[in-house]
Amino acid sequence: MGFNNILFEKDGKIALVSINRPKALNALNSETLKELDVVIDQIAEDDDIYAVVLTGAGEKAFVAGADITEMKDMTTVEGRKFGILGNKVFRKLELLDKPVIAAINGFALGGGCELSLACDIRLASEKAKFGQPEVGLGITPGFGGTQRLTRVVGLGMAKELIYTAKIIKADEALRIGLVNRVIESDKLLDEAKALANQIAANAPIAVKLCKAAINRGIQSDIDTALSYESEAFGECFSTEDQKEGMTAFTERRDKSFKNK
Ligand code: CAA
Repeated sequence: MGFNNILFEKDGKIALVSINRPKALNALNSETLKELDVVIDQIAEDDDIYAVVLTGAGEKAFVAGADITEMKDMTTVEGRKFGILGNKVFRKLELLDKPVIAAINGFALGGGCELSLACDIRLASEKAKFGQPEVGLGITPGFGGTQRLTRVVGLGMAKELIYTAKIIKADEALRIGLVNRVIESDKLLDEAKALANQIAANAPIAVKLCKAAINRGIQSDIDTALSYESEAFGECFSTEDQKEGMTAFTERRDKSFKNK
């Protein structure tokens, strides 16, 4: 399927997905959300993709939010439906059984900040700017901001950002733990790909099980969470890659994982 608003390419074991509506600063309209939904399915079904980099096309924006032009005249029912669509797609991304790195190259506002929050790891360029400007538009965050931002930066900081609608720069995003690293703009994509390749060099099933255990565990009490870990740990021993990883170690040779 060809996409109007998304670029999708494979580079070895990694996939690069770019939201591509630069004239609207990559704002997410319904069509883009639906295309993202399809891309996520394609990536999920492709056993040769081990990690994903998600970015925004153009110089200025990762994603400048949900599309305000589309939302402007929505009714209550339409607004709810749009919110449910965004939440469904972002949740699918969060649950994708491969790690996703957000390479945040510019504005990550509203739905853009929320999109990055549905990714596993956030890397920001020096030019990146973050915020949840929704209350300034008369709405609440609608694609997970009230929930995921809180889980990433904590209750007080999330409330300050959401209630004030203020926009923060990359260094402040780093200080509050919203991003893992700030990188020179022209090196961002290469560093994101390098990180994805570093992950892709490991046993993909083990990485997938780590993602599920971490994501499920963080929502659970510690005993339940540790049971997820034990389940994942045990499951690894049914894989060829566990045998390969440990045999390669004992034989002091390079390992060769097969995603099996
Ligand atoms: N929706 C639709 N169009 C958008 C957009 C958005 N979220 N953000 C930017 N654009 C469009 C602008 O309308 C403009 O289009 P035209 O050239 O056709 O007029 C184009 O992108 C370039 O934008 P600007 O001229 O405004 O660029 P700027 O450099 O002066 O400002 C900006 C950049 C500060 C990011 C500004 O565009 C802006 O504030 N955008 C809106 C950010 C925002 O409020 N996002 C949250 C949306 S609500 C949301 O996301 C809800 C949710 O949780 C699901």
